This record gives sequence, structure tokens and C-alpha cells, in this order.
Amino acid sequence: MKSAFSQDQDYLKNLSNKKFLITGGNGMLASSFLNQLKINIQNPKTYCFNKLELNVSNFDSFTKYVNLKPDFIIHCAALVDADLCEKNKEDGKSNIVDGAKNIMKYAKINNSKVFYPQSFLIYSDINRMVDENTTPNPLSIYGDLKLEAENIILDSSENTISVRMGGFFGGDEKDNNFIGKVTAHISKLIKQGKKEMAIGDRVWQPTFTDDLAYNSLVLLANNKNGKYNMASHGSCSFFELTKELIKILNIEDRFTVSRISAKILSKREVARRPLSVIMNNSRLKQENLDRQRDWKISLKEYLTKPYFKKLFT
Ligand SMILES: NC(=O)c1ccc[n+]([C@@H]2O[C@H](COP(=O)([O-])OP(=O)(O)OC[C@H]3O[C@@H](n4cnc5c(N)ncnc54)[C@H](OP(=O)(O)O)[C@@H]3O)[C@@H](O)[C@H]2O)c1
Repeated sequence: MKSAFSQDQDYLKNLSNKKFLITGGNGMLASSFLNQLKINIQNPKTYCFNKLELNVSNFDSFTKYVNLKPDFIIHCAALVDADLCEKNKEDGKSNIVDGAKNIMKYAKINNSKVFYPQSFLIYSDINRMVDENTTPNPLSIYGDLKLEAENIILDSSENTISVRMGGFFGGDEKDNNFIGKVTAHISKLIKQGKKEMAIGDRVWQPTFTDDLAYNSLVLLANNKNGKYNMASHGSCSFFELTKELIKILNIEDRFTVSRISAKILSKREVARRPLSVIMNNSRLKQENLDRQRDWKISLKEYLTKPYFKKLFT
């Protein structure tokens, strides 16, 4: 039997020479998509636009790309800061919901397939693993807007796919999520002579954007549609995650962390977030297309990059 990887090589040939338009091109996930396309696809034609080149909130911004005719639109642009969305719903709505409407209008004109990265924050705490049939129940305006955008996309055309993803790490210096922020903060504290900090115990599935982008390309190569969950294997609290990264970075003798209740920390946040959402990649597993890895293995690969080495030398 062929290994999963060699099987993927056959699948991925279906994407050779195809045109990919990526929105939100400066972001974490978009950067991983661009890299994974370069590594895994033969002669991809990539158009990775940042907000200045293509502002998805404004349909006029699409007019200069009317002749581009992308086969795929990877729609990564969004206002992803849940607290900002809570404070300024109109801003969130124009980026996330109007963005989705404009993408679908443009996709219809060009007959493009649309890929939508969805957030696990459309779910709330439940005492079992979340699968694709679990009813979403967002706790924040960000979650509400993301769900509205997903519905717009999936209801507009069958040639669409929405992948509900675990919380990200990726992008090295572009990493504006927990791992990017906590490593930069620990590095600063060590330089100031400090040796410890408290970390909350909210539970999540830290998921590498490179793994997400690769697995998503496998889905596109298989011409899949509809809803999928996609998160790393396993889960941990932010506290456990920080302990693990301190071990991987080999700074255990220089820095330690203590646990603090997520309930205390969440009082400081504007947007409500679930204390624990664990997704099961049910559909990926059923279709033999789950290419996610254990979070500790992916984290180790990520933290051995030169950016993190430099932070702690
Ligand atoms: N981060 C996570 O943990 C996570 C988890 C699951 C799903 N997702 C989803 O994955 C997607 C990408 O997230 P990410 O973490 O990679 O975000 P990111 O790094 O913040 O990238 C998003 C990019 O979108 C751009 N953008 C914002 N508004 C725009 C607009 N109106 N037109 C064009 N570009 C715009 C931003 O540019 P500026 O910075 O210049 O505003 C930013 O470069 C989002 O849909 C997010 O909801 C994220």
C-alpha cells in the first residue's frame, strides 16, 4: 500500500499549473499557504495580495483583477482580533461579512472555487469533542461574524469549502498569536533579569499553519466541498503549552511558569472565549485525509527555526 505521503503526491498533481488568489497576504495562514504551494505544487501561479493590493471590504478593489480568473481563492483576509471586533462591530463586519460577500461576487464572475478558513471560536464549551455536526454557538461578536461569513460562502455556491481550524501558531516574526507573543515576552523578561510568569489554563489545540495549509491543499486537490474540522492531534492548556515550549527552547534553567485560572484572566478580555473547545477531525479521518500531527511534534519543528533561536541567544 502507498504511504499517505506518496498518495498525496498523486493528489497534489491535480493542482499543477493552477491559479491561486490569496487574500490577507501578509498574514500567518496566507504565508504558510504561499510556502506550501511553492513546496508541493508544480508551477503554481500565485497571487498573494495584502490589504493595500486587495481590500476585500470594498468591491471596487477587485476591479483591477477582473481578468485574473483564479481557479482557487484562498480567503485568509479578516480582522482576527476578537477583542477589537467586540469593541468595533462595524469594522469587524465590513472586513469579515462584507469581505465574504465580495469574495463570492468575484468568485461567481470568475468561476473560482473558494476556500474559507473558519475559526474554532464559532463553538462554545461542551463536554465532548466537537465534530462537523456540532451546532456552532459563538460567544463573541468575532465568532458571530465568522459564522455569518461562512454561511454566506457555503450558501452561495457548492464550489466552496470551509475548514474549521484549531488556534494557530506559525509565521515566525509574523506570529501574532499566543506562541509568537509569549516567546517574545519571555525573551524580554529574561533580558530584564526576570525568571517567572503566570499563564492561564484555558485549553486549546495549538495547530501549525504549515500543517493546516498542506492538509487544505490535499482537500482542494481532491475537490472537496462543505465543512471540515482541522486541528492538531491532542490538546493542552496555555500553561502546559508554555512549559513545553520552555523545554523545547532549552531555557528551563532560566525561566519557569506558574498556573493561573483562565477564569481570572478572561475577566481582562473584552470578547468572551470558550474555556475549552476540542475539535475532532471526524470528516478528515473518515475520508482518510487527516494530515495533522501531534501538536508537540509540530511545535518542536516550529521552534527550531532561526527566529526563535535568535530570541534566546
Ligand atoms: N489565528 C487563529 O488562531 C485562527 C484560527 C482559526 C481560523 N483562523 C482564520 O484564519 C484566517 C487567517 O488568520 P490569521 O491568523 O492568518 O490572521 P492574520 O495573520 O491577522 O492575517 C489576516 C490578514 O488579513 C488582512 N486583512 C484584514 N482586513 C482586510 C481587508 N479588509 N482586506 C484585505 N486584507 C485584510 C490583515 O491585514 P492588516 O494586518 O494590514 O489589517 C492581515 O494581514 C482568518 O479568517 C481567521 O479567522 C485563524
